Amino acid sequence: MPAEDSFFLADYIENKKGSSALDIGTGSGIIAKTLSKNFSLVVATDISISALRQAHETIDNCICCNAADALYSSFDLIVCNLPYLPSDELLDPTVDGLHDGVDIPSMIIKSASNLIKKNGKLVFLTSSLANYDILIQLCKSLGFDANVAAKKKLFYEELIIVECTKN
Ligand SMILES: C[S@@+](CC[C@H](N)C(=O)[O-])C[C@H]1O[C@@H](n2cnc3c(N)ncnc32)[C@H](O)[C@@H]1O
Repeated sequence: MPAEDSFFLADYIENKKGSSALDIGTGSGIIAKTLSKNFSLVVATDISISALRQAHETIDNCICCNAADALYSSFDLIVCNLPYLPSDELLDPTVDGLHDGVDIPSMIIKSASNLIKKNGKLVFLTSSLANYDILIQLCKSLGFDANVAAKKKLFYEELIIVECTKN
């Protein structure tokens, strides 16, 4: 089910425009559905086939794979609401990010990084609960300009949206 983080990210990307967009970890499909208003091609991936069954009710191009590993084309925009909670084990892939809340996100960012067109963007959601500076540094090392673009305080954490532009 979409939660506060989903709606925050959906609002943030609502006015982005282009020809092709990818939503990694689409879950219910809320982000992909928002992207489909302004992008002619939207692809959604998720590691969970049951999540994709729900997303496929509204999104045509759903692919069950790890991150973006099954894809070879390039996109104007890639969006991901990352699983960001620090955890010792990967018990719940919807939230568990492993060490510092960045191991799974780092793997997903690396998988996405070669599929973004020049001047294209990677936008992801993380949290103050994760060591998200590591993710910003990773994006910079992969050839992106990367900055915190929006924050939202909740009771127990701050949601963080990072926007990266491919040089
Ligand atoms: C925090 S939820 C976000 C769901 C939805 N995008 C939203 O904003 O409401 C994270 C999603 O990423 C998926 N996921 C976790 N690890 C993944 C991976 N390695 N590759 C693809 N999807 C993954 C989970 O199954 C889950 O649907």
